[in-house]
Amino acid sequence: MSNNILLLHGPNLNLLGIREPDIYGNKKLSDINDHLKIIAKEYSVNLSIYQDNSESVIVEHIHDAYYSKVDFIIINAAAFTHTSVAIRDALSSVKIPFIEVHLSNIYKREPFRHSSYLSDIALGMITGLGENGYEAALRYAIKY
Ligand code: DQA
Repeated sequence: MSNNILLLHGPNLNLLGIREPDIYGNKKLSDINDHLKIIAKEYSVNLSIYQDNSESVIVEHIHDAYYSKVDFIIINAAAFTHTSVAIRDALSSVKIPFIEVHLSNIYKREPFRHSSYLSDIALGMITGLGENGYEAALRYAIKY
């Protein structure tokens, strides 16, 4: 069981609810996070959640996860999924198992979204299930 779980949200996910609701849904990020916090509480699991628009801050959170003994990471790196060797390297460095989550199905979208710098080093990837993808990832992480 994982006791210490970190959820990272990448750039522009702070605009959920406003941002392209036909693709990303109507829920705000705070609604999604609140729901996940309730599940974590039910299982007495410590869930830390951060959103950032900056690649370097996300890298720092991954480094901090090593020192604070995070057992499992759930990450929606958003646009950095398709560009960031730095986030990939950070995840490889700390060797903490992680699940990559995307709200939309990245394979149904523009070709530049079809590649991920993270998926081949992830434990698994959930794409296209909307907010349910986070819940599935969290339940998996708790059991892991
Ligand atoms: C996303 C998909 C990415 O391609 C996009 O850049 C995002 C969100 C998703 O959750 O569907 O910002 O990661």
